[in-house]
Amino acid sequence: MIQNQMPVEFNIEYDEINVLLSSAELSGPDIENLEKIRKKSKELEKQSLTSTEYQSSTLDALNKAIHLHGGPIIELGVYKGGLSCQLCYLSKQHDRDIYIIDVSSEYIEMARQQIIDQGLLHSKVHFFVGNLCTFFEEHNFQLLPPCMIVVDGDHSYFGVREDLCNILFHTPDVPVVVLHDFGLRYDNSTRRAENNVSGAILDITGDTNALIPIGFLGDGTKRDDCYFQKGYPEGVILFPSLLKPAVFSVAYSYCAAASQKFLVKKHKTEHTNLYNELQQQKEHNALLCSHLSRSRWIKTGRRIGFLKWIGKFLNT
Ligand SMILES: C[S@@+](CC[C@H](N)C(=O)[O-])C[C@H]1O[C@@H](n2cnc3c(N)ncnc32)[C@H](O)[C@@H]1O
Repeated sequence: MIQNQMPVEFNIEYDEINVLLSSAELSGPDIENLEKIRKKSKELEKQSLTSTEYQSSTLDALNKAIHLHGGPIIELGVYKGGLSCQLCYLSKQHDRDIYIIDVSSEYIEMARQQIIDQGLLHSKVHFFVGNLCTFFEEHNFQLLPPCMIVVDGDHSYFGVREDLCNILFHTPDVPVVVLHDFGLRYDNSTRRAENNVSGAILDITGDTNALIPIGFLGDGTKRDDCYFQKGYPEGVILFPSLLKPAVFSVAYSYCAAASQKFLVKKHKTEHTNLYNELQQQKEHNALLCSHLSRSRWIKTGRRIGFLKWIGKFLNT
């Protein structure tokens, strides 16, 4: 069963985002066009699973953060691409790379198709099938930090913790990280009972001092087979620059331990492959030897036959 959590309190108001992202002068995103994209997504039955409020705050934050770094936008967990289309629209407006990541190749394909159908595909849209760990193995953002990362992938406690640690370790300078499903709960213990997104976020960040709540506020009522905990917001915006340095050390230790485990596993696999290769080589050599020795006997036999024939010839 779900354990009751203490009510959560936040210290930063949404309006303070302008100060945090030094964007007081900037206008908001082009809501009219974004609304058209949302409408089309609905017609295609590929709309975002998130609330309109959450989407608007996410896009507003992106519009304000995008001028801070020249790096890309990263979206993790895309489903059918409802939010991806809107992010693609802003990435095109700001001539920015966007990475769209999901573990499911099927959802990546659906999102790609929707982006094409909405006429939003451009040369800076990249798709990646995998998780954040495998993504960061292939992409390095040390020189050019992303301007924003939107996380809505694995909602288990350990999944969220892993994603957040990877972000803080690989891209500590990202100005804004948006995390969906903060207050999400399942009340069916057979289905991912360990699900606790807010627990994972608060365990890593230490408190709410670097978080702003966004989207609707949970009222504890059920939607489908899950509900949003009373008093908990749908999502949060994390400002890594407001985190205590110790938080980054935790993320570093977590990723170092994970990569150690990965190396041991990799080493074991390489060792097994090498062993198998050697075994195969041995079998091949044995076969070759038996073949060679057989042909040597044949040759020797032929040589003896030839000598016997010469002897016979000389005797006559
Ligand atoms: C709730 S949906 C995302 C909804 C989407 N953001 C939207 O606005 O409609 C979760 C998605 O995360 C993907 N996912 C699950 N675990 C993941 C992981 N570890 N890394 C990346 N994607 C993951 C699922 O395949 C699914 O498409």
